[in-house]
Amino acid sequence: MFKLTDAEFQQFCDLILEQSGISFEAKKRYFVEKRIEKCFKETSFMSVKDYFRALKYGGSKEELMQLLEALTTNETYFYRHISQIESFAEEAVPLILEQKRKQNKFHLNIWSAASSSGAEIYTIGILLKETIPDINKWKINLLGTDIDRKILKIAEAAIYDKRAVKDVPVAILKKYFTLLSDGRYQLNSSITSMVKFAHVNLVDRTVMKQYKEQDCIFCRNVLIYFSDEAKRQVVHSLYQSLNKDGFIFLGHAESVGRITSAFRLKKFKKSLSYQK
Ligand SMILES: C[S@@+](CC[C@H](N)C(=O)[O-])C[C@H]1O[C@@H](n2cnc3c(N)ncnc32)[C@H](O)[C@@H]1O
Repeated sequence: MFKLTDAEFQQFCDLILEQSGISFEAKKRYFVEKRIEKCFKETSFMSVKDYFRALKYGGSKEELMQLLEALTTNETYFYRHISQIESFAEEAVPLILEQKRKQNKFHLNIWSAASSSGAEIYTIGILLKETIPDINKWKINLLGTDIDRKILKIAEAAIYDKRAVKDVPVAILKKYFTLLSDGRYQLNSSITSMVKFAHVNLVDRTVMKQYKEQDCIFCRNVLIYFSDEAKRQVVHSLYQSLNKDGFIFLGHAESVGRITSAFRLKKFKKSLSYQK
């Protein structure tokens, strides 16, 4: 039977935290241990000690990624917490576009920084199409990133089951999705062509530095899994990635209040955001 000692379990948790920012509480031990067991059994290591050593000391980057991917929570769906995305499209975007027009800059950069299967960034694309009257004049760059490479493949394929589109208004579903013969929904290329996906670990400072000049960042429902220290580091990186006056939307239960005073709180009619 596979069983980690308390010390081994703690070593794995420390490594996971260091590599992904994700902090597991003791009550999650069964879940974490089961995932470690599954990943370990898919390798050829003879002992958990060898497996851990290879993960920790760099010999097994691929195995480490597989373990992190096995531990992520990918829950997402179209139109999730839509009041935030509506605030973005109806109030934040007009403010950003007005500023950009003054600067004679006709591009907009929006980033979903823990995109999972893409439902969030695609919902953003749909709302932008629906609300920007002169959208053809603008170069809209939508970016979805995630630590989980498997979920990014699903995002790129843009085919979803019924549950993922349950909150999509019927008229939007008809306009932007094609119902496939197996009952799933394929998002049309008018939206998928607006989005690029990339593999980015939020706690990788070097990679995060490459993402600059963002007008708005969505980082929803991921920082809840992070330690305070990791949250602080990620929020700092995201701050650096934003343009001046750019906005960040966190999950509706998340706030940066305890982490940093760098942002101004922005109250929209339907939700809150933070502004640089
Ligand atoms: C619960 S989903 C949230 C998806 C979407 N933002 C939403 O709110 O519907 C959390 C996502 O964060 C990703 N994630 C976890 N740790 C990460 C990290 N260190 N860097 C990048 N993405 C991470 C997971 O792979 C997962 O897809």
